[in-house]
Amino acid sequence: MPYQKILDTISSEASKSKERGEVANYIPELSKISDQKFGIALLDEQGHLFESGDTHEQFSIQSISKVLALSLAFRLLGDEVWKRVDVEPSGDPFNHLSLLEQENGIPRNPLINAGAIVVSDILVSQLQHPKKEFLQYVRKIANDPSIAYDEQVAKSEKRTGFKNYAAAYLIKSYGNLENDVEEVLDFYFYQCALSMSCQQLVKVFYIFANRGKCLQNNPYLSLAQVKRINALMLTCGFYDEAGEFAFEVGLPGKSGVGGGIVALLPEKFCVATWSPGLNTKGNSKLGMEALEKFTTKTGLSIF
Ligand code: DON
Repeated sequence: MPYQKILDTISSEASKSKERGEVANYIPELSKISDQKFGIALLDEQGHLFESGDTHEQFSIQSISKVLALSLAFRLLGDEVWKRVDVEPSGDPFNHLSLLEQENGIPRNPLINAGAIVVSDILVSQLQHPKKEFLQYVRKIANDPSIAYDEQVAKSEKRTGFKNYAAAYLIKSYGNLENDVEEVLDFYFYQCALSMSCQQLVKVFYIFANRGKCLQNNPYLSLAQVKRINALMLTCGFYDEAGEFAFEVGLPGKSGVGGGIVALLPEKFCVATWSPGLNTKGNSKLGMEALEKFTTKTGLSIF
């Protein structure tokens, strides 16, 4: 497959695009990023890296981190995780609270904010030094000790994340949060503030394309765990646009309000895009378009 040629074509089309969406501003620090950035990187099943555009520049991975936190919680707690959080798509925006009240504090899935806050609570209970150990886990999977949290972004969201405070207190009121709201959200905001480039993201997410093993062939997840996490990415990874992403792109994937998207075809490749302008659902506008072009041009999707 001529991956390099396809990525270069997609990247050059994206750089000419005038309709680039809106950069997120509800986390003030994110609004400083230029909407002109665009990068796309792909790691194939043999570990060959292909890239085009701004693929070495780090950005805030935001909700993409929810998949990594879930994978660690799943490793530590196994199927007990599903007693605390459901596995159904919500059909709602990522920060909605209405279903949480209707469903007695059990979030619909671990990839909406409410569900990720419950996963954060699990990690805060399970780990002695949650922020340090989570970062070590991500660095180990990627074999890249340079991956770090962006303190400015974490602090910026801590000052303005009122809706996440509301979600956490609502969950706590139903008895589904073991730790203090402040402690859980401190971890959650740092987790979301992980900084990575497209080429780092494909290395981290390679485990979900490679039957649970990283590039160095070390096992992190069982085949059954990878199946479940990929299913959640497909059905819940894009919130109320999960159907649209499956329809247009046809891959399990996850987006973040920093403008990143990562998607994968099991046993074939892992691909990441970055373009900070978002559509009205909070997913990267050009990133979604680029991945639609990619799976259409290559004919490679899970369908
Ligand atoms: O909690 C928040 O609102 C952000 N830290 C993450 C949201 C996000 O990335 C939604 N994804 N598209």
